[in-house]
Amino acid sequence: MRLTFLGHACFLLETSRARLLLDPFLTGNPAAAARAEDITCDYLLLSHGHEDHTGDALALSRRLGAPIIANFELAEYFAAQGAKVHGMNPGGGFNFPFGRVKLTLAHHSSSAEAGLRPIYLGSPCGLLIQADGKTVYHAGDTALFLDLQLIGKAGIDVALLPIGDNYTMGPEDAAAALDLLRPRLAVPMHYNTWPVIAQDPARFAALAAAGGHAVKILAPGATLEV
Ligand code: NI
Ligand code: MN
Repeated sequence: MRLTFLGHACFLLETSRARLLLDPFLTGNPAAAARAEDITCDYLLLSHGHEDHTGDALALSRRLGAPIIANFELAEYFAAQGAKVHGMNPGGGFNFPFGRVKLTLAHHSSSAEAGLRPIYLGSPCGLLIQADGKTVYHAGDTALFLDLQLIGKAGIDVALLPIGDNYTMGPEDAAAALDLLRPRLAVPMHYNTWPVIAQDPARFAALAAAGGHAVKILAPGATLEV
């Protein structure tokens, strides 16, 4: 399968049977490597409700007829606006035509902006995707937590981990997460989009290397064969 980094936490995962767009945020994304209007995909997978992970989900789902796979509340929120959805919850997996998706724990928050009071949208999640004999883990936005050990038991080929700090793990905690996840390869995400999450990914790679972990830094637009 092919994995293309589209900037921030957005990835296109092309399996033999479907194109999956993870955390679609291209419009208004300073790091976007593609325009939402130019994207085609078969499914949209969302880790949580924040706009920097869901921004283009509704428009893409409507235009392409692609189902949104997300936690139950987030799925219902988009279903009420005309999207095709498949709601799940942490710990639950489902066999889709392209492979299996399991939502995992993530320690974060999940909401949509709505004036004075945000709409709270279920549990933040990670995405564990198994297709074509490979396992890809998109951690979503999360803190470091010990249960990453359990997620690692799936035997992860590629782990996509936030390193931006402030809202999520920073480089040190992301490197510590690798000791628990033990993936074949890690790719940093969720950094340098805005000044508040400015990070040097080479520093993360060096910390990871000290623990014996392989890191591939993808520039927005770069593709990796998984
Ligand atoms: Ni978030
Ligand atoms: Mn985020």
